[in-house]
Amino acid sequence: MRIGILGGGQLGRMLGLAAIRMGLHVRFLTPSSEGPTDGIGETIIGDWTDPAFLTSFTDGCDVVTCESEWAPIDLLEEIVDGRIPVFPGSSTLRAIRHKGRQKTRLREAGLPVPEFVCCATLEDAASATQSFGFPVLFKAFRGSYDGYGNATVRTEGDVLGAWDKLADRDGVLVEAWAPFVRELAVMVARRDDGKCVVYPVVESEQRDHRCHAVLAPAAVAQSVAASAREIAIAAVEAVEAVGVVGVELFEMPDGRILVNELAPRPHNTGHYSIEACHTSQFENHLRAVIGWPLGDPSLRVPAAVMINVLGHRDGETSVASLPEALTIQNASIHLYGKRSVKPRRKMGHVTATADSLSAARVAAETAAKHIRL
Ligand SMILES: Nc1ncnc2c1ncn2[C@@H]1O[C@H](COP(=O)(O)OP(=O)(O)OP(=O)(O)O)[C@@H](O)[C@H]1O
Ligand SMILES: [Mg+2]
Repeated sequence: MRIGILGGGQLGRMLGLAAIRMGLHVRFLTPSSEGPTDGIGETIIGDWTDPAFLTSFTDGCDVVTCESEWAPIDLLEEIVDGRIPVFPGSSTLRAIRHKGRQKTRLREAGLPVPEFVCCATLEDAASATQSFGFPVLFKAFRGSYDGYGNATVRTEGDVLGAWDKLADRDGVLVEAWAPFVRELAVMVARRDDGKCVVYPVVESEQRDHRCHAVLAPAAVAQSVAASAREIAIAAVEAVEAVGVVGVELFEMPDGRILVNELAPRPHNTGHYSIEACHTSQFENHLRAVIGWPLGDPSLRVPAAVMINVLGHRDGETSVASLPEALTIQNASIHLYGKRSVKPRRKMGHVTATADSLSAARVAAETAAKHIRL
């Protein structure tokens, strides 16, 4: 069986590694090769908006999936015209790609989200800001990641600058500030027939708008964890996603859960599952898109902590610092094989498992600190 994967970054790499273990073939399609999928199955490099190119890519694939919500799934669906299953489908991606449409869909499904308004004009944005009270978040409707498409508006004087920076042809999303106590995440793997499995609730810590650490399981009350998991499933059902979806959540001071956003693919906050769960998010993504039985998502260790390894400066990647990091016991090091380093670029991650979150944290942070890229 051959799985086509649109995209060739670290998520593709880890999907490919899970596929190979199960004896599946993988074929990646990427606009340019950055290195992560080198040596893992086939990588085809070219313009993925070119129909002829997409047609030859799909030839011989049994199912096609993506590692990026920006992949041209709409065009691909037209090309395969039902002959090959494509998951997640374009209707799911259309509902998720646009932040305004996504939040609207979630709210219409009765899910708790921060207050927001889709603002078509600067005047609308100014009045939404006024009605929510400072601070508010301005979010670009399309194309944002790692916080790049967001601006915190703290005073009236920030409104115009944030609008100019982020407004698209249809405006901008203005969202009330959520004074959360913790950021949580839940991975859900869902098949086309609606069967799904839910991963444990994890906590994610951001630094500079970027995920720094993931703690599994999150140290939340059982009732909070139960409602987070229930809401995550409902959110995934609301967009009829197939495959793994990363559901980002806020835990509010009164224990309420709000949905921040969905990512229709394996997610950074689910990497811990490779070492810490019976079935990783990558394996379950493949099982879900193929329609195979889903694996047990539960933890097989008491605790796990994942730390992202970011680039420090521009240059070529080197593994010179790796041996030192490898002296830390119970820490698994993942480097993504990216050819070039950039400051703050995600270059790899470390997951440590232990009897307690604090022990796992020490091991993961120590190993991650040793890796200087
Ligand atoms: N309404 C809000 N109130 C408070 N903080 C928020 C709010 N929305 C977003 N944030 C903060 O900004 C971070 C990034 O926001 P968001 O997830 O919308 O952006 P993104 O660029 O799509 O993210 P990423 O790719 O990192 O997941 C959140 O993880 C959270 O820390
Ligand atoms: Mg996010």
